[in-house]
Amino acid sequence: MLQAAPATPSSPFMSTRRLFNADENATWSAVVKTQRPRRADQLVPMFQKGLVALGMDGDSVPALEDVNAKLMALSGWQGVYVKGLEDGRGFYTLLKDKKFPIGNFVRDQKDLNYTPEPDIIHDLYGHIPFFADQAYADYCHRYGEFACRFFDDAERLRRLERYFWFTIEFGLVDLPIGRRIFGAGIASSIGECVYALSGEPEVVPFDVERICAQEFRIDQMQKRLFVLPSIETLYASFPKLMEVVQR
Ligand SMILES: [Fe+2]
Repeated sequence: MLQAAPATPSSPFMSTRRLFNADENATWSAVVKTQRPRRADQLVPMFQKGLVALGMDGDSVPALEDVNAKLMALSGWQGVYVKGLEDGRGFYTLLKDKKFPIGNFVRDQKDLNYTPEPDIIHDLYGHIPFFADQAYADYCHRYGEFACRFFDDAERLRRLERYFWFTIEFGLVDLPIGRRIFGAGIASSIGECVYALSGEPEVVPFDVERICAQEFRIDQMQKRLFVLPSIETLYASFPKLMEVVQR
């Protein structure tokens, strides 16, 4: 989930050292074991590539310092544990600094398919593998830098939040190998991975203006999804996004 809904004004960073108990590791393991054989058919290949490159495809929660050492070498980014949900100001400032916030808890096993509050499964498993890709990481860095201009402009921040939501969090993409999940919010939910590609949600062609005006709900699976014609289309959309946001 995008950490844009206000909850705490600014969350103090926590250490990258965090020990996980047996239940937490079992939840991580349940997601990884279920998703591992499904990824090739469901996800963009860059997700799997990132998981492997960062040593995150094992059966227990990886140590963030180990992931970060690899991530820093690959793209210059870092994951940071935070307490609670980041507001827009905190979230975009982190992106600007090439950091991604990771909610410092693991969801209950009963919430494998969905959790409204971003946790380690969503943030670490769902988001971080994408940041091993330099073009993706550069795009998010640019996004953070741009968004930081609008901390006092709720409407423009809202457009940026919607755009992030329907692309980085819940985007689909049509690749030569077929339609795949691009959004980390889908990637981190076993149930939403199935649902998103089931034909049940409405799938709408990618459109910057429409996305910036599209409301969304965070408390249910997404009934409307936008599909990119390629991943590069998203990166190339930045000038158009800047124009639409600043209108
Ligand atoms: Fe997210």
